[in-house]
Amino acid sequence: MSKVQQATIQQVDGTLYSSEFDDIYHSSSGAREQAHTVFITGNHLPERFAALNNNQFSIFETGFGVGVNFLVTAQCWHENKQNKQAHLHYVACEKYPVGSTDLTHIIQQYTFSEKTVQQLIEQWPSLTPGYHDIYFKEESITLTLIFDDVKNATNNLTMSIDALFLDGFSPKKNPDMWQEDILNTLAKHCHPNTTLATWCVAGSVREALTKAGFNLTREKGFGQKKHRLVGQFNRIPEDKQAIRQERYFPHISRYLNQSPNKQVGVIGGGIAGSLLTYALTQSQIDVTLFEKGSHIANAASGNPAGILRPVASKDDNVLSRITRRGFFLTKQLISNLEQQIAEPIAQYPGVIHLAKDHEEQITQQEIIKTLNFPSDYVTYLSGEELKSRFQLDHPFGGLFFAQAGYINPQRLCERAIDRSSELLTLYLNTEIQHIKQQKDKWLVFNTHNQQLGEFDALVLCLGANHLTVTEKLGLTINRGQLSLFNHTHSTMNLPVLCKDGYIITLGNNQVLSGATYDHVLDPSPTAINHEKNQQRLLNILGKEPLSFDSVLDRVAYRSVSRDRLPVVGNIAQSDLYCVMGNASRGIVWSALNARIIRSFITGEPQPIEKNLLDTLSPQRLLTGHV
Ligand SMILES: Cc1cc2nc3c(=O)[nH]c(=O)nc-3n(C[C@H](O)[C@H](O)[C@H](O)COP(=O)(O)OP(=O)(O)OC[C@H]3O[C@@H](n4cnc5c(N)ncnc54)[C@H](O)[C@@H]3O)c2cc1C
Ligand SMILES: C[S@@+](CC[C@H](N)C(=O)[O-])C[C@H]1O[C@@H](n2cnc3c(N)ncnc32)[C@H](O)[C@@H]1O
Repeated sequence: MSKVQQATIQQVDGTLYSSEFDDIYHSSSGAREQAHTVFITGNHLPERFAALNNNQFSIFETGFGVGVNFLVTAQCWHENKQNKQAHLHYVACEKYPVGSTDLTHIIQQYTFSEKTVQQLIEQWPSLTPGYHDIYFKEESITLTLIFDDVKNATNNLTMSIDALFLDGFSPKKNPDMWQEDILNTLAKHCHPNTTLATWCVAGSVREALTKAGFNLTREKGFGQKKHRLVGQFNRIPEDKQAIRQERYFPHISRYLNQSPNKQVGVIGGGIAGSLLTYALTQSQIDVTLFEKGSHIANAASGNPAGILRPVASKDDNVLSRITRRGFFLTKQLISNLEQQIAEPIAQYPGVIHLAKDHEEQITQQEIIKTLNFPSDYVTYLSGEELKSRFQLDHPFGGLFFAQAGYINPQRLCERAIDRSSELLTLYLNTEIQHIKQQKDKWLVFNTHNQQLGEFDALVLCLGANHLTVTEKLGLTINRGQLSLFNHTHSTMNLPVLCKDGYIITLGNNQVLSGATYDHVLDPSPTAINHEKNQQRLLNILGKEPLSFDSVLDRVAYRSVSRDRLPVVGNIAQSDLYCVMGNASRGIVWSALNARIIRSFITGEPQPIEKNLLDTLSPQRLLTGHV
């Protein structure tokens, strides 16, 4: 994945100019008007939004720019959509995104809905590579920005496209955007009713689009342009399209044939199952959740606190990319769930990953230099800075994630379940002992062999437990012990500190230290592990607290896959999914995993790149790939 390079935009003659491409972003005859004529009219959006009988509509745009096309579309959606349940997925790639200051300055000059613009600005992401979501709750729109080159973005797309906006700079100045193989790849995500629109009528582009399967017509252009192009993906006979999609792109038929009354069963009410329940009910899907304990979040997800932080690596590896996406999605979810509640779910004092020696210090400095990420996402703090800012003695410094922090996982799960209640049937004290497929339904049975329900799709979120079908994943179980202390070492609100474990300074003069890692399956806390946690506290704080008394010790189990990545997706048979192997990072990636499973079920755009999705698939473990 490439680094993100910020756009440099100048305002010239009533339009925006890119010195990178020596071209303009919009016609000087009017950006809004151009967007309306070319993309909205070209794709017949007012009529299609008004007549929508599917619960979702999906747009893909090449070149998000400053978001004029998006904002015009959002307005059209607002004005024309009749179906209250319908959701708009607007996915756009952008290799040179604008910074938030430029965006604010530029976009406020146009007359768009103030509220939508405000939300766009407030949620504008850190300029880090990959997928970012901006969620417009009232408007029922998810804007997914992919900060990546169009080629990589389209090669890794998993979505069904209803309308395509082709909006690069001119093919002469921006040939990368209009390559034949990119247009061909995009066509693979289209169906017979997919339309496309662009201001570009270059012969090479028309030829490539026709070859890819679009019927094209030239319409009267906007401003100085004589013509614009519209098209529909109906050159390939429907039956041929159906065969191809079934084989290579099953998400398209899921998307097109989504039944409105889907019943989904979820087994396991930890953070994986709770956030999945919330994600599904948000899409109007009925969920039945089975939890063997007397309350949700009673196992690993019941710890007093847990860290919410991404990981950074020099090569921006899979772990870094998945934790980054999970981190931002979880923060966004928490901010939605925290509205109208007294007690916060999360605190964000920052997280410091302390370097343990000179070697790690060098690695951390190299990470910062190589990635060149915004400093509000991750930065390196030297030993001196740690001393002056936090009175900490760690000469090798550490990576500082300023937006990170810790959460109360139980409160998050409770809140998610509470917000799901209208569409949720919750069975507590109910252990599912086996499951069975009958025709196209999944049946679940309790320990008395009573059938408790039948479902169109079933998702196993079993934590450190198993049903027969999950045993072959080869997950291992690790025991972890956390110790909570009362302390008076300082009234200062310290960031979370990580070094061979972590300490979290909670707001109430308590500090949580953990976690141990062993394979003993004894559920009671041990004195040895308590001492380890106490020692960790001293090592990290670097000084003896004035006093610290034990409050509690808690043991829980992690379920860990061979590559330590979570196991998310289809497990063997169709419509049977799992979210397992959450290991030591279930808090960081459960919101992401929930969205992945929801996308499998509804066919909506997947929230991550296809290559990451494949990396998380249970198939990697079942086929012995890893
Ligand atoms: C000590 C410790 C510290 C940690 N610290 C962090 C941290 O700081 N940050 C972080 O991101 N992660 C942390 N983790 C990891 C994180 O807590 C887990 O990854 C996460 O809680 C796992 O969630 P889960 O829903 O997959 O599993 P669980 O929380 O274990 O939930 C599984 C649920 O399924 C139920 N269940 C299982 N089988 C059945 C069945 N057959 N029928 C009905 N119900 C069933 C169980 O009762 C349980 O409630 C830590 C883990 C431990 C152990
Ligand atoms: C004409 S502007 C788009 C205007 C935009 N649609 C809007 O509504 O504001 C073209 C955009 O394509 C982006 N772009 C150019 N080459 C790209 C590439 N290879 N991959 C992704 N985006 C690219 C540019 O940075 C620019 O923002």
